[in-house]
Amino acid sequence: MSMFKVNVICSVLFVVFGAARAFLGNGDKFRRKVSVELNPGLSPPSSLPPGVALVHARGLGPNDTLHFMLCNLGAPALLLVHTNSTESAVQVNWPVFINGSSSGSLKVAPESSVTYSSALVFTRIWEYDDVNNTADPQKTAESSFYSPYELQNFIWAELNATVNQSDHMITLCGREKAESFVNGSLCLRLSVFESAGRDRAWPSLLHNSNSSQLHVWLDGVTPRGNHSRFLLEFQSVGDSGFQGRVDVRSSIDDEYTPSIFKVFDWVSLPLNSSSVWGFSQWKPVAYRKPEPVFEDATPCRSSPLVSVSHIPQSALVQAFFTLQPQTHGLNISFGVDKDPVFYSDTKYISWTVLMGMGEPPADSFSTLIIIIIAVGLGTPLAIIIIGGVFVCVRKRMTRSSIYEPIN
Ligand SMILES: *[C@@H]1O[C@H](CO)[C@@H](O)[C@H](O)[C@H]1NC(C)=O
Ligand SMILES: *[C@@H]1O[C@H](CO)[C@@H](O)[C@H](O)[C@H]1NC(C)=O
Ligand SMILES: *[C@@H]1O[C@H](CO)[C@@H](O)[C@H](O)[C@H]1NC(C)=O
Ligand SMILES: *[C@@H]1O[C@H](CO)[C@@H](O)[C@H](O)[C@H]1NC(C)=O
Ligand SMILES: *[C@@H]1O[C@H](CO)[C@@H](O)[C@H](O)[C@H]1NC(C)=O
Ligand SMILES: *[C@@H]1O[C@H](CO)[C@@H](O)[C@H](O)[C@H]1NC(C)=O
Ligand SMILES: *[C@@H]1O[C@H](CO)[C@@H](O)[C@H](O)[C@H]1NC(C)=O
Ligand SMILES: *[C@@H]1O[C@H](CO)[C@@H](O)[C@H](O)[C@H]1NC(C)=O
Ligand SMILES: *[C@@H]1O[C@H](CO)[C@@H](O)[C@H](O)[C@H]1NC(C)=O
Ligand SMILES: *[C@@H]1O[C@H](CO)[C@@H](O)[C@H](O)[C@H]1NC(C)=O
Ligand SMILES: *[C@@H]1O[C@H](CO)[C@@H](O)[C@H](O)[C@H]1NC(C)=O
Repeated sequence: MSMFKVNVICSVLFVVFGAARAFLGNGDKFRRKVSVELNPGLSPPSSLPPGVALVHARGLGPNDTLHFMLCNLGAPALLLVHTNSTESAVQVNWPVFINGSSSGSLKVAPESSVTYSSALVFTRIWEYDDVNNTADPQKTAESSFYSPYELQNFIWAELNATVNQSDHMITLCGREKAESFVNGSLCLRLSVFESAGRDRAWPSLLHNSNSSQLHVWLDGVTPRGNHSRFLLEFQSVGDSGFQGRVDVRSSIDDEYTPSIFKVFDWVSLPLNSSSVWGFSQWKPVAYRKPEPVFEDATPCRSSPLVSVSHIPQSALVQAFFTLQPQTHGLNISFGVDKDPVFYSDTKYISWTVLMGMGEPPADSFSTLIIIIIAVGLGTPLAIIIIGGVFVCVRKRMTRSSIYEPIN
């Protein structure tokens, strides 16, 4: 077969399989109308400390509303509240909310419409001197750990007052008082989505209109050790009656996140049922440069889930959850053993997590992989069939030529 024919056949296959896939899979047509507002209902004399905000993103569906709230009063937290009403609204008792110690000062009304709520809180950044180059905090002596940076104590940069209503993104950047943070910052970028899709930048997680994404990066911090590596500690707060579990899914397809074949889903499900109600999802990869490329990818490790006895120091979470909520924590560590590149090399690390309700999104096979599988399975099958037919025909012909003279 000429090269030209092969190319034509491949293009035809691509179009056919692509069309079939668009028709069968990824047919998530569910859309929400998203609007973003800052500090709903806040008016003088109440005011928040500089750089502190409550970002409220409302995702309005045909029969329901999904509220996402991001707040950096105390440890930064992302709260998800789902209601089965299209009229639900966020109500904040600002004087009490700002004062802290304020259970019940933020609610989504009517409270009877709330069907599910859950929060993700970024609590600490840990740093350790990886002298043995294991990149494994579990194998590292406790003495190699420096005192953690507590995110509840961060000072936040002034937020741009207007929110871009077309891309539904907002960025919060903060830093510690310590000397090592003089040139450093920790940033969180929230994205809320109207429909299914994925970011062009790696890790290109698949999202849908029931999820929001946080991109977290640590930039320009002066490492305290000569072989410093970092850990990000985060906690999940949810209603009692729910349990958490981390599932790891593997795939043979890495088209969207090169060289990464795993997805981690921290799912939340009711104690008496096996249906998943909410999730946090990430891929075990971080990037060492703001514009991710292959050479700057580094694997991540996640620690086992631990139960935390007290609710984290986040105003948002403390104000919203009134009935004994449950808290679980987990560390994400960046880097892999024998990796000669430490944080000091680029002084930058970024990581992305998706949070939402319902089942976590799952990548379907890409068109390329489907074609490879089709060609890989199809070619031997075609050879066997054609070969079989050929052998049968040959046998008949020889048989007839042998038996004919005897007749
Ligand atoms: C919304 O509710 C109406 C009436 O209850 C129902 O007919 C419709 O199918 C629902 N739409 C969706 C998208 O669930
Ligand atoms: C603020 O908190 C203090 C104690 O933490 C309390 O005495 C005071 O009444 C609170 N003020 C408001 C307006 O809630
Ligand atoms: C909304 O949810 C509440 C609590 O789960 C339930 O009592 C109520 O009937 C639901 N309303 C609708 C319209 O589905
Ligand atoms: C380095 O590895 C040795 C042997 O495994 C261990 O005894 C030591 O505590 C490790 N050092 C650190 C700082 O983790
Ligand atoms: C705020 O806006 C200015 C100018 O539009 C921009 O340079 C700056 O990076 C923005 N800050 C944040 C935190 O997005
Ligand atoms: C808002 O976001 C859109 C899409 O990313 C961009 O094209 C536009 O310039 C942004 N507007 C402002 C005011 O930043
Ligand atoms: C911060 O940056 C300045 C200028 O690049 C540099 O002189 C200084 O040493 C840096 N400080 C720290 C703590 O790294
Ligand atoms: C998103 O939530 C709505 C309302 O609960 C549901 O109808 C829809 O199927 C969900 N979409 C996905 C992709 O989970
Ligand atoms: C880092 O390395 C320098 C020179 O190699 C050495 O003087 C210093 O003590 C080391 N610092 C730590 C914390 O190990
Ligand atoms: C789970 O248990 C709660 C009470 O503990 C009950 O109200 C609910 O109906 C149960 N759900 C299922 C699916 O069994
Ligand atoms: C995270 O790692 C640090 C250092 O090993 C440890 O002290 C802390 O308990 C861990 N947090 C969680 C939630 O596992």
